[in-house]
Amino acid sequence: MTTKKVWGGRFEKELDDDAKTLSYSLESDKKLVFYDLAVNKAHVNALYQQKHLTEQEHHALVTCLDQLVKEFKEQSSGLYGNDEDIHSCIERLVTERCGDVGKKMHTGKSRNDQVITDTRLYTKDSLTSLIQEVRELISTLYEKATEYKSVIFPGFTHFQPAQPILLGHHLCAYIEKFFRDIHRFEEAFKTADVCCLGSGAMAGNNYKLDRQSISDQLGFSSLSRNSMDAVSDRDFILETLSACSICMTHLSRFCEEIVTFTSPIVGLMNLGDDFTTGSSLMPQKKNPDVAELIRGKTGRVHAAFLGLQTTLKGLPLTYNRDLQEDKVYLFDAVETVHLSLKCFRKMCKTIEINEGAIHKALEKGYGVATDFADYLVEKNVPFRDAHEITGQVVLYAIQQQKQLHELSIEEFQSISKDIKEDVFKAITFEASIKAKNSYGATAYNQVEIQLDELKRRITWNNH
Ligand code: ARG
Repeated sequence: MTTKKVWGGRFEKELDDDAKTLSYSLESDKKLVFYDLAVNKAHVNALYQQKHLTEQEHHALVTCLDQLVKEFKEQSSGLYGNDEDIHSCIERLVTERCGDVGKKMHTGKSRNDQVITDTRLYTKDSLTSLIQEVRELISTLYEKATEYKSVIFPGFTHFQPAQPILLGHHLCAYIEKFFRDIHRFEEAFKTADVCCLGSGAMAGNNYKLDRQSISDQLGFSSLSRNSMDAVSDRDFILETLSACSICMTHLSRFCEEIVTFTSPIVGLMNLGDDFTTGSSLMPQKKNPDVAELIRGKTGRVHAAFLGLQTTLKGLPLTYNRDLQEDKVYLFDAVETVHLSLKCFRKMCKTIEINEGAIHKALEKGYGVATDFADYLVEKNVPFRDAHEITGQVVLYAIQQQKQLHELSIEEFQSISKDIKEDVFKAITFEASIKAKNSYGATAYNQVEIQLDELKRRITWNNH
């Protein structure tokens, strides 16, 4: 049996079945059910306040909406019907239960202002839980950074060994990125935190509804200022998707490093069995699938951002049905980022480093060459000349298949008389690290400062 439509009056024929499949959105927007019930309740209260409902009618509607909240929490399967969307579903249920008074619920309200109000509530909650997830990830990384604060690790540019750094410093670099993600989520929250109910289909409502009181009931911070903007605007979703995209980019870059560093060929670290998988064919394999999946899902979240941008581009004011696509992108992206953050955090906890392999890796690639040049600068050699001399020393060492510290003082001095015995102290990994002693650099004490500052910035650990 077909459920009665909320707009059937002026139609002589049923909507074509395929067109129905194209247009019905309940399967996706049922996620908004509790927000839709709350929005209906606030609206019903506003109608009553302006005497568009009697006390009895108001009571019947509010009781019914409250009862529905309970029932949907317990189990929803029997409640959804063949409805066009979540708004028609709730109106049908209320009308089935309250009779004609149910038909008054939509007075002065449109699905256009309703859907966006529901979606803003969903977005606010989602951003709150994404922020919570990023915070937990930062806490985990902070623990790891503390654990590895004095482990010397190769630092890369172009994925070529560049300079030695502390692994704690490397991890703190990601913590900075994730702090900015929190900031972006918070900014998106502010954009979403605007109440649009009362905007009607697009021009406003005729019922003098107290929009401030509706907004207060729903916990919004401010009111939309223009009804046409209210029903056509999806900027807050774009901002959420943009923040989601950037956060996934950070996870993806980190995953790429984990995939590389855990490959047996590189072998700098290992992942726990609970975050790796085997091969159905090759018995020796331990694959970093979780890291790969998160890296892969990044594309999906980027696509959501671009997808919605594409949907919005070229839409005239105000509401257009194209806008229904917004939620598909939003829901999928939010859920993907949430799960990715959670898995990533749990996976990070299982990382164990392989100090022997790390030390061997440090010996490759002449990571202290810059310190060698800096040593010459201290001996008053102009940096450009020091760079040239160091280049010659490195070339010589490569030809001899030796590390810099394995060359003799005679070999050094055959290239430059400015090189003295004390060079050997200047080109150890420890000396290289210690010398990077400016604010934000990798010296041991600077990493301590970063960790101290982080302890203060990680405010959520304090309660
Ligand atoms: N399902 C619709 C959406 O998500 C609700 C609004 C429908 N409005 C309309 N005029 N058909 O956008």
